[in-house]
Amino acid sequence: MHTNVVIIGAGPAGLMLSHLLSQNGIDSIILEKRSRKEIEETVRAGVLEQGTVDLLKETGVGTRIEHEGFEHEGIYLQFGQKRERIDFPSLTGGKKVVVYPQHEVLKDLLKARIEDGAAIHFEVDEVKTHAIHSNEPYVTYTPEKGASEETITCDYIAGCDGFHGPCRETVTESDCSEYEKLYDYGWLGVLAETEVASDELVYANHENGFALLSTRTPTLQRFYLQVDRKDDINLWSDDRIWTELKKRSDIGDGKELKDGPIVSKNIVSMRSYVCETMRKGNLFLAGDAAHIVPPTGAKGLNLAISDIQILAEGLKERYHNGSENLLDRYEEIALQRIWKAQRFSSFMTTLLHTDVKKTKFERKIQESEFHYLVSSEAAKRSLAENYTGLPIEWGRALAPQYS
Ligand code: APR
Ligand code: PHB
Repeated sequence: MHTNVVIIGAGPAGLMLSHLLSQNGIDSIILEKRSRKEIEETVRAGVLEQGTVDLLKETGVGTRIEHEGFEHEGIYLQFGQKRERIDFPSLTGGKKVVVYPQHEVLKDLLKARIEDGAAIHFEVDEVKTHAIHSNEPYVTYTPEKGASEETITCDYIAGCDGFHGPCRETVTESDCSEYEKLYDYGWLGVLAETEVASDELVYANHENGFALLSTRTPTLQRFYLQVDRKDDINLWSDDRIWTELKKRSDIGDGKELKDGPIVSKNIVSMRSYVCETMRKGNLFLAGDAAHIVPPTGAKGLNLAISDIQILAEGLKERYHNGSENLLDRYEEIALQRIWKAQRFSSFMTTLLHTDVKKTKFERKIQESEFHYLVSSEAAKRSLAENYTGLPIEWGRALAPQYS
């Protein structure tokens, strides 16, 4: 088998790359270790930046988002019982975000790719990259556990296999540059059958820890609580979860968060991570394979999509004009945006979480940061432009079609 690009991983990064390449007449094959069902059912985050929504719509996979996504024009930030709204359109010249779950984006992309006859191999095993420094790289895999090995030769390999996949491992096993921060806390995420808690997302800093009120449908809500990173989910009864959610989101107006059956709960730890070496030979890393952000800024999925936009433009230039100039600049262009998203995610995380290691002085500074933010037009604008998504900086050297 031969193809232009072997894509490892059918998450948002891998599927979007395959979609954009196919729209530009470039062949790819996707190798994915999970089943289609598992991909379509795994609950992940759900805020899409304006640019992500625009790209999905412009490339023909935005119909359901248009009908089923919830447009949000702002968020609420809360400190103690004080809740303030940040209005996106007035601060950013009209930008909004859309609340639409990641697995629904994946369903839309999978449907489009499969209807288009894409080669996606699910439930493969033993995926390995070879000869990445040569002009004839190849990937081996087994179509299922224990089956005999298959080989795909290609021009390029796209490592879209997330943080725990084999591609990041290949890049990091020799010279590379990595940056990491682990947090002492994690998020306990629940899906609850109850009514919408707030017309827009609420990010609350409470002395017991952070809480986030988000939504999925009018009858299914997504809530999060800051917990210890090593906390045991079995110690969190539904009653305990509701008590904390109610306490942390209370604004003293006598209205209590409406509880209901909790249909799923889990704890995820949090890290910030960047592998600046996003290219080794003809292997490119994109999305979670190259970086992880804490979820407080809602950037993970959006960052994966912007990496892919840059990589897809590079591959387009290579196949249509025979030039690798843009591919050579993939890392540089992507990292600009990645570090800005890292900065914003780290800022939101520090602002909103309660850290037991913080001194009384640091807690006062955190409170003052909140008051400054909600009282300053400039600070609110900065938050709004970051939350709704910064532009990709293609650089002056490029032709106008990339600016
Ligand atoms: N072989 C084949 N596929 C693999 C392998 C492997 N050895 N290891 C991992 N994968 C697949 C995973 O099963 C998953 O479907 O790669 C895919 C990686 O997808 P994501 O982890 O979703 O990463 P990415 O596409 O970069 O999207 C990043 O998705 O997970 C969220 O929070 C994350 O929002 C962020 C976004
Ligand atoms: C979600 O709805 O899952 C969600 C929303 C906002 C975040 C993180 C997760 O910052």
